[in-house]
Amino acid sequence: MSRNYLQAAVEIAQEAGKILIEAFSGPLDIRYKGDEVDLVTQADKRSEQFIVSRLNEYFPGHAITAEEGTGQDTASAFRWHVDPLDGTTNFAHHYPCFCVSIALAERDTLLAGAIFNPYYNELYTAARGEGAAFNGRKIAVSKVPTLSTSLLCTGFPVRNRRISPNLQYYGEFTQRTHGVRRDGSAALDLACVASGRFDGFWEFGLNKWDVAAGVLLIEEAGGKVSDFAGEPYQLGAPVILASNGLIHEEMRQVASEISRRVPAPGSL
Ligand code: IPD
Ligand code: CA
Ligand code: CA
Repeated sequence: MSRNYLQAAVEIAQEAGKILIEAFSGPLDIRYKGDEVDLVTQADKRSEQFIVSRLNEYFPGHAITAEEGTGQDTASAFRWHVDPLDGTTNFAHHYPCFCVSIALAERDTLLAGAIFNPYYNELYTAARGEGAAFNGRKIAVSKVPTLSTSLLCTGFPVRNRRISPNLQYYGEFTQRTHGVRRDGSAALDLACVASGRFDGFWEFGLNKWDVAAGVLLIEEAGGKVSDFAGEPYQLGAPVILASNGLIHEEMRQVASEISRRVPAPGSL
């Protein structure tokens, strides 16, 4: 059953990707959502309009949470989580690290997820119990065994930047690892943990649409996703800690230690 959902998510993500690529090559109409760095483009909106209408056509009655606000609440146990363009700041600066992220959950259980970077034609997919794949080939998390030999990634919020504690975490983790990348697309960051390009990821304040597909990818690729206390990650929680599993406890201990000095809002 979940395979049909995944096929739909893949088809829709790839079509939406065409909308993004068309916009990417032309002049961009960039607007601001309140705060000075919270950007939105016509591409975010056009992509979401397409995704929501196609989901409604294929799965009438399913609920949809979509970042630009055009989804809908219904009584259905099935809910799609849609980020029509993750990495908008990159997109607006012509840095080709952006994607479409689409996932389906049945109540609290993620069933299927697709993340598609249309610039590089990179497609990450996962269906519950069926594994995760990159461009159709099975993927697994990395085997890097220690934090000191790991490559991590993180992200910084576009809202309330001044009260984000993440610069402290960024500094500490940078000194304890081979490095920490900051690529500007949480969905692709998580997909890269699933495929072994990165060994771990953490971030504060992400929304369900940023992480739903990526969380399923990591779980299906053999990794682990939790909060800083090590409890299983709940969609929309204020903190996410994801890894290949092997370095999870080390990452968690470092994060907990930092959070005693620099509290992570609502994380412990
Ligand atoms: C953002 C990206 C970024 C993360 C921000 C998100 P958007 O999503 O995922 O990597 O650090 O917290 O808001 O706005 O480009 O969809
Ligand atoms: Ca977005
Ligand atoms: Ca996003």
